[in-house]
Amino acid sequence: MAGWSARLMPLLVIAAVFGGVPVTCRRFGEPAGLSLHRKAADWLKQMLPGSRDSDGKEAQQPEFPLQRSDLLVVLPSSLSRLDLVYSSRAYRQGVPTFIVTDKLPFKEQEFAWLGSERWGITYRQPTDSYERRAAIAPFLANNTVGYDSYKWILYGDDDTVFVIDNIIKVLSTLDFSQPYLISDALWWPENGKSDRKKIHANRDAPRCLPCNYTDLLLVDGTCPAQHGFIAPEGCPCTPETLVSQGMWSGGDQVVFDRNNKKFLRQGGPTPGWWYMIHGGAGALISQGAMRQASFEAVEDYLVNRMPVRSSDAMLTEVMWEVLRVAPTDPGYGYCRPHIQMFDPGWSGEQRRFGDLGGDPRGVIERLTAALEHDSCGAECHEQLQHTLTIHVRARSAGSDKTTANSTRLHPWHTACNEIEQLGVLFDQYQQGYSNHNRAEGDIEGVLEQSDCGC
Ligand SMILES: *[C@@H]1O[C@H](CO)[C@@H](O)[C@H](O)[C@H]1NC(C)=O
Ligand SMILES: *[C@@H]1O[C@H](CO)[C@@H](O)[C@H](O)[C@H]1NC(C)=O
Ligand SMILES: *[C@@H]1O[C@H](CO)[C@@H](O)[C@H](O)[C@H]1NC(C)=O
Repeated sequence: MAGWSARLMPLLVIAAVFGGVPVTCRRFGEPAGLSLHRKAADWLKQMLPGSRDSDGKEAQQPEFPLQRSDLLVVLPSSLSRLDLVYSSRAYRQGVPTFIVTDKLPFKEQEFAWLGSERWGITYRQPTDSYERRAAIAPFLANNTVGYDSYKWILYGDDDTVFVIDNIIKVLSTLDFSQPYLISDALWWPENGKSDRKKIHANRDAPRCLPCNYTDLLLVDGTCPAQHGFIAPEGCPCTPETLVSQGMWSGGDQVVFDRNNKKFLRQGGPTPGWWYMIHGGAGALISQGAMRQASFEAVEDYLVNRMPVRSSDAMLTEVMWEVLRVAPTDPGYGYCRPHIQMFDPGWSGEQRRFGDLGGDPRGVIERLTAALEHDSCGAECHEQLQHTLTIHVRARSAGSDKTTANSTRLHPWHTACNEIEQLGVLFDQYQQGYSNHNRAEGDIEGVLEQSDCGC
């Protein structure tokens, strides 16, 4: 608890009082597909990847071992969307969480979770822009809890599902004291198009690979040369690291102003407008990044020096300009066109256009299939093992497919149900997977016992 701001003391007192209350999951109907079959054990045996992954890292001991309590989930939300926050408890078990809302909720059900949830102080006025609140959320969280209280911030929207076990696997190879902003779901203009055609995830977007990253495909020269930007190693990844990489081929009207170290689009919007992380897909921010500048400097930049834009653009620009941290790709998908680690779309063409990328129902279907029958396939399992986040897209969750048709329906209950299902199903999937690696042949019992765990 050391390091938590005195401003939160009243809440911590309440947390102590309610500390013994059993946690209950809010339910929106029983998630489908939770019954586990013996067949699940069979595919786990068959798909055994051996003791190492194709990047050669699996066999090593993690260099920077991590626990759930080393992470800090930061969720910007608002009172009208709190059901989404409650739903994400299904995947946030044991992970400290900082929620930034327009007002602090004071209802009994919140307090049961205060042992691991902190509610952020409203940023300025309730009427202040959601975009600014979301952009400042990770900094507000860091400044409130202190950077000694966490190693990595998991930053996303309130409808982002973090696959905690996969994230821990990836982050255990990275030094949290280095400055990192990690994502492989970056916005960048489609080559030759106006900025209205910016897309995510765009593999041409400038990014580094992690410091000391090793991938057998890079070593043996079989990494497909499919990128408009060849990612340098970032030790750390600064704006200068990317500039020194030379020409930018993603978006032919994009130029880089070397004197001011800013991206410029001729006659176009300000930097950050079209080169940014995607908040829905989420990003991982290291403690080392937060040590790069003070909260005051960040706040001054966000409040006084830049207009309110999308929170994704604001966050990326403040990381670039004030913290001097540029995006890093976690790496595994860099040489594997079929793998997208942050918010995989599953249907290739969908993620080409604007915001229509993710297909959370598709992920649920694949997880269910993987658990109930072995109809997931090797590539599907590879993606499930490397998926770090899924953006549920609450705005369009009412539709089977993510289509623009349904964006105005706001069916929160559907989105909440999907968040819960993804959290629970991923847990079960990973539990079976890691148990299989631990003790081959002994997983049926584990799979049959496993339950929601809420
Ligand atoms: C992070 O939190 C610390 C308090 O522990 C604070 O001193 C620092 O200014 C914060 N950094 C940023 C970038 O907000
Ligand atoms: C990279 O590897 C070198 C040599 O093993 C090591 O000294 C250095 O600390 C590593 N850097 C990071 C950021 O992991
Ligand atoms: C979207 O709505 C229009 C008008 O109701 C309909 O014609 C079209 O088929 C819908 N598209 C999809 C993909 O559902």
